[in-house]
Amino acid sequence: MKFTSILTLIAFGLAERAAAANCPARPATTAEQKVLFDQFINSFYVKKNVTEAMLNHVHENYIQHNQNVPSGRQNAIDRLKNYIPTMKATIVKTSVSDSTGWVLVKQDIVGKPYNAVVDIFRFDGTCIVEHWDVIDSKKANATNPLALFDGQNLG
Ligand SMILES: *[C@@H]1O[C@H](CO)[C@@H](O)[C@H](O)[C@H]1NC(C)=O
Ligand SMILES: *[C@@H]1O[C@H](CO)[C@@H](O)[C@H](O)[C@H]1NC(C)=O
Repeated sequence: MKFTSILTLIAFGLAERAAAANCPARPATTAEQKVLFDQFINSFYVKKNVTEAMLNHVHENYIQHNQNVPSGRQNAIDRLKNYIPTMKATIVKTSVSDSTGWVLVKQDIVGKPYNAVVDIFRFDGTCIVEHWDVIDSKKANATNPLALFDGQNLG
């Protein structure tokens, strides 16, 4: 076998292993899940590479509770990969306990009132297997005059 083919095989093997590293699930402590959740949120909301975030951390048969997206990792990628990069996302708070990771994020989308979003993810060991979200949008004429993130200099 040629040396270059061996290198290609090794590179392919490493890429496959990276993609498969967290799903299917291996057992993980809460401390390990915190590290994985930070990596996931960093890829998803900071780098805004939805494909990378989902392929590395989410099960292909991911259960989805958002009303606008069917279950399955690929459906989430298709729906979000061009949408997430259009927004300014400010991470306000993240937490992981009891195999559940959640993130509170401010989403500024050009031409729309900003959103306060809580995404909740259930882990099976190393792998994210289920998602819920709750989305509130700041109304110009809201009964409550307080900003959604009042006190945190976010508006
Ligand atoms: C996103 O991540 C994927 C998988 O790692 C990679 O192939 C792609 O080039 C990345 N896209 C961007 C815009 O960085
Ligand atoms: C705010 O404006 C919308 C659209 O005009 C209206 O439907 C809604 O009732 C208003 N809400 C309040 C609290 O005034």
